[in-house]
Amino acid sequence: MDYRDKLVLAPMGTLPFRMLAAEYGADITYGEEIIDHKFLKCKRVTNESLGTTDFLEKGTDSVVFRTCPEERGRVVFQMGTSNAVRALKAAEIVIANGDIFEYEDFRRIKDATGAASVMVARGAMWNASIFSTKGKIPWEDVKREYVRKSILWDNDIKSTKHTLKEMIMHHSCLELPEGKAVIKCDTSADIA
Ligand SMILES: Cc1cc2nc3c(=O)[nH]c(=O)nc-3n(C[C@H](O)[C@H](O)[C@H](O)COP(=O)(O)O)c2cc1C
Repeated sequence: MDYRDKLVLAPMGTLPFRMLAAEYGADITYGEEIIDHKFLKCKRVTNESLGTTDFLEKGTDSVVFRTCPEERGRVVFQMGTSNAVRALKAAEIVIANGDIFEYEDFRRIKDATGAASVMVARGAMWNASIFSTKGKIPWEDVKREYVRKSILWDNDIKSTKHTLKEMIMHHSCLELPEGKAVIKCDTSADIA
């Protein structure tokens, strides 16, 4: 994978969020960091009904990492390890990460740091259309699309709720009816 001159989604999203960010223009989308010990306890399973490849915690149906063919070539699986020093010594490409809240910040931070590419976490979580060259679209539209994708990919309800709560907290308030309703949700059907 070429890491130069790319708009990168930080390691924070499960499959629906990564697909959302990619749809708006992210070139590379990192998966949530998974610790090596945890990954070693996973088994790889093809999910025929969703068309995904799942890494499940052995002996359970708990999804640790889910990906799909459309992500091939742009998803990065981030593994946490206690042996990072060696990996860092070998690193040649630097990706600047942090404080990007508008599309224009990608260029500004890249120029200021001289980094090969730029990565965004919170700015994308609050409005994933930050990656769009056409400018951000209203966050409510992004939220609706995120819910649609979460249902489509059978995302873990805790993960969906967490992302929705972050969006609502940033743009509105969890004490309002919508926020309270999200907190009460137990299933994807409730979220819909
Ligand atoms: C919800 C969330 C989850 C994150 N998870 C990870 C992670 O798994 N691994 C990691 O290296 N960084 C993680 N980060 C940190 C981001 O990569 C980034 O360093 C930090 O949020 C600063 O960037 P920002 O100003 O764009 O938010 C996470 C950030 C957020 C907001």
